[in-house]
Amino acid sequence: MSFASLLAVSGGPAQNLSIFDPVSPPAESIRDLAFLIFAITGLIFLIVEGILLYSVFRFRHGPPNGGAEPPQVYGSTPIEIAWTAAPALIVFVMTLVITRTLWEVNVDPKTPPTDSKPLRVTVIGHQWWWEYVYESYDGEKLGFITANELHVPASNLKVASERRPVYLTLQSADVCHSFWVPRLAGKMDLIPGRTNSLWFETGHKELFLGQCAEFCGTQHAKMLLRVNVDAPDDFARWLLEQQKPAIDDAKDPKVAEGKKTFLAHSCVNCHRVRGTSAVGSYGPDLTHLMSRKTLASGILPNSRDNLRKWIADPQVVKPGCLMPAFGLSAENLERIVDYLASLR
Ligand code: CUA
Repeated sequence: MSFASLLAVSGGPAQNLSIFDPVSPPAESIRDLAFLIFAITGLIFLIVEGILLYSVFRFRHGPPNGGAEPPQVYGSTPIEIAWTAAPALIVFVMTLVITRTLWEVNVDPKTPPTDSKPLRVTVIGHQWWWEYVYESYDGEKLGFITANELHVPASNLKVASERRPVYLTLQSADVCHSFWVPRLAGKMDLIPGRTNSLWFETGHKELFLGQCAEFCGTQHAKMLLRVNVDAPDDFARWLLEQQKPAIDDAKDPKVAEGKKTFLAHSCVNCHRVRGTSAVGSYGPDLTHLMSRKTLASGILPNSRDNLRKWIADPQVVKPGCLMPAFGLSAENLERIVDYLASLR
């Protein structure tokens, strides 16, 4: 798939992935640090190159005193002290600002700002998709699971009681992955057997895109991230919808037939549809599949046609992915699509 079509999935070419355009405190700290380090090292570069170029041009016709070697000077204590002290001081200043940035970025998830309404989500990296376990919001337990498209509430950073920081707990089910949404926060790895955390908070009600930033196998490049920052009311509505079990559209005979077909196939070994006997946890939770805009971790727009194409042979869309083609008959394929397309 071309870059242009990925942008089409993401909602237009206006999508911005620049670390120089942050909208959340940790990403702002990282941008400020980058500018400061660039300024310091840029100044050193200008001074060194300036002296070099000056010498090259000034003495381009050879030594000024008619070809004799210039006086050789050995061991000047003041110069030795100066060029030891100056770099040491520069490195010391850089260490201080880097430490300050680490301090700002790695906040303690156990102590959110007073009066704020923290959202806590556990992110589990899989080859090649993201699992989100919604733990709690504003102190209330949630406990539902969704995949690939993260929804978070917009914060008002100026009013303590309207702050909504997002704390992510990062884990991996298989290999190392890395959660990176450049405008929200820095990269943080998801490492098997280890728990990392990440924090961000933003007032911008937009869709932010990201990408797994640690090579994790053949489909690493198609492990895309989508973070929807919703208005608090919209987010509360989304939470309510997601907490419900799957809508059982039993009135529609096509859907009822589809459900029977779905539950009779091996789909249920890997996928969960809450409220049914499908309780697999190896693949993405499908309970509210149609509430998501994309399929296969941000690769395809979520439409009936793409759903059919994906189920018929996932290997065509994401070669090497861990979902096999089951060789379904055209009739069974259509029935399963009927059912999945009803999971709003
Ligand atoms: Cu997951 Cu790269």
